[in-house]
Amino acid sequence: EAVPVIAIDGPSASGKGTVAARVAAALGWHYLDSGALYRLTALAAQRAGVAWDDEAGVAALAATLDVDFTETAIRLAGEDVGDAIRQETISVGASRVAALPAVRDALLFRQRAFRRAPGLVGDGRDMGSVVFPDATTKVFLTASVEVRAERRYKQLIEKGIAANIQPLLQDLRERDERDSQRAVAPLRQNEDARLLDTTEMTIQQAVNQVLTWSGKVL
Ligand code: C5P
Repeated sequence: EAVPVIAIDGPSASGKGTVAARVAAALGWHYLDSGALYRLTALAAQRAGVAWDDEAGVAALAATLDVDFTETAIRLAGEDVGDAIRQETISVGASRVAALPAVRDALLFRQRAFRRAPGLVGDGRDMGSVVFPDATTKVFLTASVEVRAERRYKQLIEKGIAANIQPLLQDLRERDERDSQRAVAPLRQNEDARLLDTTEMTIQQAVNQVLTWSGKVL
């Protein structure tokens, strides 16, 4: 019997990470933040002096990333980089390295390794389409770009990181464009995924909807 997977895909700052982590906690399942792997790859490249468009160089780094995900921290070679990978420059870098097929390939098997009993909730852009095509529940979670910019803004301010709405909005629009126009694993709603538009929803409402769709009503 295959280990069940709930795949939650959607655009940047949609809240899918928060929803996915809460669904995983509610079920006692594992959680994969696949975007963090792309962010870690971009950070590792920056630190190694490898350009974000050097496909072979970045792919080699992706294949050998020394990462450790715990409940409270994301570590790269032992160092807690949870805040470093959320910086806007690294967000841009992540979306650049994510457009390179060899990098996506290098990260594919690492992502599948997260699938362990009793279940996995994965969030990203291609969880339901490429990484876990046999996922039991597939959700495309989105929100208007304005609401997403507002959510990202609040998140940054809460962390004590300086931010402005306008550049965030601009950056989200550019990233949406790059993520949905790329040739490999573009961001789009899969035909077998359910649409969850959270523009006017609370996090808890979104969590409950995913749990209901997965047949795991608590
Ligand atoms: O979800 P998050 O914003 O952390 O992802 C960072 C970047 O990584 C995205 O802009 C996207 O380009 C890329 N990504 C991806 N496939 C995934 C997850 C993230 O291409 N499964």
